Amino acid sequence: MDADMPDKILLGLESSCDDTAAAVLRGREILSSVVMGQTELHAAFGGVVPEIAARAHAEKLDLAVEQAVAQAGISLQDVDAVAVTAGPGLIGGVLSGVMMAKGLAAGLGKPFVGVNHLAGHALTPRLTDGLSYPYLMLLVSGGHCQFLIVRGAQDFTRLGGTIDDAPGEAFDKTARLLGLPQPGGPSVEATAVGADERRFAFPRPLLDREGCDLSFSGLKTALLRLRDRLVEAQGGLHEADRADLCAGFQAAVRDVLREKTRRALALYLAEAPAEPAFAIAGGVAANQAIRAALETLCVEHGVRFTAPPLRLCTDNAAMIAYAGSELLAAGETSDMALSARPRWPLDRSAAPLLGSGKKGAKA
Ligand code: KG4
Ligand code: ZN
Repeated sequence: MDADMPDKILLGLESSCDDTAAAVLRGREILSSVVMGQTELHAAFGGVVPEIAARAHAEKLDLAVEQAVAQAGISLQDVDAVAVTAGPGLIGGVLSGVMMAKGLAAGLGKPFVGVNHLAGHALTPRLTDGLSYPYLMLLVSGGHCQFLIVRGAQDFTRLGGTIDDAPGEAFDKTARLLGLPQPGGPSVEATAVGADERRFAFPRPLLDREGCDLSFSGLKTALLRLRDRLVEAQGGLHEADRADLCAGFQAAVRDVLREKTRRALALYLAEAPAEPAFAIAGGVAANQAIRAALETLCVEHGVRFTAPPLRLCTDNAAMIAYAGSELLAAGETSDMALSARPRWPLDRSAAPLLGSGKKGAKA
């Protein structure tokens, strides 16, 4: 779309997890981006309930499209093509989106294209910061954690990923164990401010193993043990205990991400990219301690550091529309045989990821 279709209008649809989203892009300009969350529907269950999510997507998708089109100041007939998340994710939600896209494309007589949700995240730095290929990407959120060398819209090399929880999940569990509000990331970060990160000994999982794979479930176990020991010894947690536990946990996540990023950068830089760049995306990228550590690391290595704005890092449909525009520009389109894929790794040559956290499959 960059070169040959700069002004085409793309409608994007996203419904693979717990956000129903629609967006309209003209080239790289985001005309509208509507995201309807479902947090309150799942709040009582401690995770996303697939059946509830699927029903909510089916109910809200056309509303999201209507709003996105209205906010963009266009009519549906102005849409040149439709891009839709076709996986990976919770199958009911993905199906709702794919059916909607097929219906819209058939009704409008316009092309449509199925997009990998992770490719949407991974290509976002091109939409927001105009990065050129290849760049190194760390996707780090409540549902994702992986290092990718992004070489093209369909060309990714996964250098490593979590073998259990995603870091955002670990932050959320930490908050739950300490009685702090959800989402856990912001409340753990706020509680950790000014606290002593060295008071408690948290492990640094998988640093002893070569490569870029990560693990976070052990941190949660360590936290549980430390908390229970304190409760047993003193009958409860003091404010300072809570703060030091949060600081220690956060420092462990930061150190693990910094060391694995250092290794990923070394692999990436060994390819001598012309314009070396690193992008961090996902909810955890909002964490100042983690972000500062990775930014410093990039500066030390002469690598440009980017972090797309949070509203484009968290699940949204603008990223799907953008990824779709790159696919269409490369001559890719889908047809009525397009199926919804619960699992769809970006790098088919990499070993499958083991984790599939509270928000469904990670690849
Ligand atoms: O990308 P995102 O909004 O959604 C999905 O994972 O789908 O990421 C949300 C995750 C949550 O687990 C949340 O606790 C975490 O990102 N998060 C943070 C911070 N803000 C959000 N984690 C650490 N520090 C933060 N400041
Ligand atoms: Zn996502």
